[in-house]
Amino acid sequence: MTTMQAGAAIDVVAVEKRYGQRRGTANVALRDVNLNVQSGEFVSLVGASGCGKTSLIRMIGGLAPYTAGSITIDGSPVRGVPQRLGFVFQDAALMPWRSVRQNVAMGLNEIAKTLSKQEARGRVDAQLELVGLSQFADYYPRQLSGGMKQRAGLARALVSAPGLLLMDEPFGALDAFTRLRLQEELALIVSESSTTTVFVTHDVDEAVFLSDRVAVMSASPGTVKEIVTVDLPRPRLGRQGLLDNRRAAELRDHVLRLVMEDQEARPSRPA
Ligand SMILES: Nc1ncnc2c1ncn2[C@@H]1O[C@H](COP(=O)(O)OP(=O)(O)OP(=O)(O)O)[C@@H](O)[C@H]1O
Ligand SMILES: [Mg+2]
Repeated sequence: MTTMQAGAAIDVVAVEKRYGQRRGTANVALRDVNLNVQSGEFVSLVGASGCGKTSLIRMIGGLAPYTAGSITIDGSPVRGVPQRLGFVFQDAALMPWRSVRQNVAMGLNEIAKTLSKQEARGRVDAQLELVGLSQFADYYPRQLSGGMKQRAGLARALVSAPGLLLMDEPFGALDAFTRLRLQEELALIVSESSTTTVFVTHDVDEAVFLSDRVAVMSASPGTVKEIVTVDLPRPRLGRQGLLDNRRAAELRDHVLRLVMEDQEARPSRPA
């Protein structure tokens, strides 16, 4: 099903993001962010709430402008939404007036033109099956639970076999079992394709299981403070296999310590 095309290479250099100035004070959300992601690589972004993960991933996906620095995809500056992009939003962002099947089909974008109706339907159905929504294909978003909406959003992002997959806490609203299952599915999907993935998560175990590298961000202003290489062999056995893996535990502890250092460094609020 997946057409083997090279995944996108991303280069983020000295990027800054400021949000609207009020009375002369700009909120600098990100400063001097540097990150390069190679073709086919899986990189997670972790860090405290508010450190700028969503801002960064939206800028990579051409959904928001940056205020300084540069972001290039395959050497070209990002201007607008790049082709062959799959984006999973933190809040699913489904079209309320379209059914689950129609929402997923929207993810086909331009590819839809190159497929027969039957082929397009086949692809959509295969994705719905993968995320366990086959029986709900004709439901509307208002009829779905939060986790089901997230799964529909995931199917919409994957249906085009994108060269670049950007995922903002895609599994945040899922129950523990579905989350583990989808982590394993995602690991399989990315290992079988050449898709480049940037994945935002608060779950350090999830980041270690899925990633080639984990970029740890710090806040105020947000920046990438350390990039940890996950030197666990692939293909990785299911999540279960990581539970008693010593190296995985070391990596998790290291990433967790980096994230927590940052939390502790924050000024504590007066009681
Ligand atoms: N549209 C906006 N206008 C003004 N400020 C914003 C806007 N979006 C984000 N910010 C600010 O930018 C900073 C980073 O926000 P962002 O949503 O990127 O963080 P995050 O790391 O994704 O957080 P979370 O883990 O809670 O999702 C925050 O201080 C936030 O208040
Ligand atoms: Mg966010």
